[in-house]
Amino acid sequence: MEHEETIVILDFGSQYTQLIARRIRENKVFCEILPFDQGPETYKLTNLKGIVLSGGPSSVFDQNASVCPPNVFELGVPVLGICYGLQLIGRLFGGEIDRSTRREYGKAIIHIDKSKKLLSGVKNDTAVWMSHGDHLSTLPPSFEALAHTETIPYAAVGNDERKIYGLQFHPEVAHTEEGKRILQNFLFRICGCAASWTTESFIDTTVSRIAEQVKDGKVILGLSGGVDSSVCAVLISKAAGKQLHCILVDNGVLRKNEAQEIVSAFKDLDLNLKLVDASKRFLSQLKGVIDPEQKRKIIGRTFIQVFEEEARRIKDVQFLAQGTLYPDLIESASFKGPSATIKSHHNVGGLPEKMHLKLIEPLRELFKDEVRELGRKLGLPESIIGRHPFPGPGLAVRILGDVTRERADVLREADDIYISELKASDLYNRVWQAFCVLLPVQTVGVMGDERTYENVIALRAVTSVDGMTADWARLPDAVLGRISNRIINQVKGVNRLVYDISSKPPATIEWE
Ligand code: XMP
Repeated sequence: MEHEETIVILDFGSQYTQLIARRIRENKVFCEILPFDQGPETYKLTNLKGIVLSGGPSSVFDQNASVCPPNVFELGVPVLGICYGLQLIGRLFGGEIDRSTRREYGKAIIHIDKSKKLLSGVKNDTAVWMSHGDHLSTLPPSFEALAHTETIPYAAVGNDERKIYGLQFHPEVAHTEEGKRILQNFLFRICGCAASWTTESFIDTTVSRIAEQVKDGKVILGLSGGVDSSVCAVLISKAAGKQLHCILVDNGVLRKNEAQEIVSAFKDLDLNLKLVDASKRFLSQLKGVIDPEQKRKIIGRTFIQVFEEEARRIKDVQFLAQGTLYPDLIESASFKGPSATIKSHHNVGGLPEKMHLKLIEPLRELFKDEVRELGRKLGLPESIIGRHPFPGPGLAVRILGDVTRERADVLREADDIYISELKASDLYNRVWQAFCVLLPVQTVGVMGDERTYENVIALRAVTSVDGMTADWARLPDAVLGRISNRIINQVKGVNRLVYDISSKPPATIEWE
């Protein structure tokens, strides 16, 4: 089957690399990020339309400066270097780079020298976003200047014959006013892309690819009810029908009614779904465990055991499907690019190695919002698509201290009130994540004429783009007041509520 038209982004470690990918995909052109030193033999050569060299923190003068394989320029497809990418092109093609002692950071105005191809239709004297130390000071032979600024002579350069271009500024950030047009010029005028990568085309190609791979084999998938595994399940079921077996494990630390809600949401979608109640097993393993990492390990390990046992019952399973997303891969250690070390991720690895099954990860090239869009097209209900992220270890990392069924029940009741009030006030979709935390302390209160000595619940609500950084949400007083009243009056065992006003960093989103 023919591959999508692809732009390869070689990642030199810029904080903006993922943003470049987002901008390209917004133009309905598929692209993927690869480590800067990955050679062209591994690219999808069948339909490679262009290459982007990202920015990066190093200088071409560094001893171990990052250099892409030189044959990247011999493939006959256009190349666009951004920031460090431009300096590298300058260096490799015989230009000169000026080593600046000062970094230029922020807004600059470009004056256009040649308004063609890359800068076609771009306004003159427009604002761009700079973030660099070195800059190109002498053009390489057969390159021409396309734009300059007050401080640098070559803000944009090009070599039409070899189809190699460079920008000292960042077209991918919103502060570059004409950034969108410049990227579109590269994609459509220079690379000749067709803007054919749509959700529908993604569904068609992925479904036929999975059908080809699976044939009449059996596939298993651990469904959590979160958006990733849910979209993954529906997509695979389009290709494999009832050969797909979804397993939903109740680990005893799910939210109130969660398992039943997921089962009923999937009933209409006609999926093979089995709910396994392993709550006793998980809770007995967790008994007396206080340390958060220990809780995570126990839950991870027990999940694998339960899942393996269920898989064995199905017999002759050959494939394991996972809803791994693109950022999961980039953040996991298996991707060796320079932007890989942000955090170790919880969703990659574990099961596949143990089970000797072939992996199917149909979402591995997508970002979260692309997965949501896909879910909508596949007919998943908004209640699943808009769900807040929920950690694999569930409420165990929100019950500080000992995890027991009784304490989990207290937390479930409080959390249910909190979430339903947020939904009723139209706030649920405006925060990234909201939940209650049960603290391991008791405080004194008074109810009626009685002195009480009961639990404290903390409310957490954060805004975030990707969960990597987060700010505490400024929920309206009136809503907080209502939530406080309801939880303290209705949840037995709680006499005090506090609101968490910490940002990430230095706090994390979860308390454990
Ligand atoms: P933190 O607490 O690290 O959380 O700021 C960032 C995001 O990751 C989720 N999270 C987890 N997800 N297993 C998961 O699947 C985990 O062990 C885990 N710990 C945190 C958290 O809910 C937030 O969305």
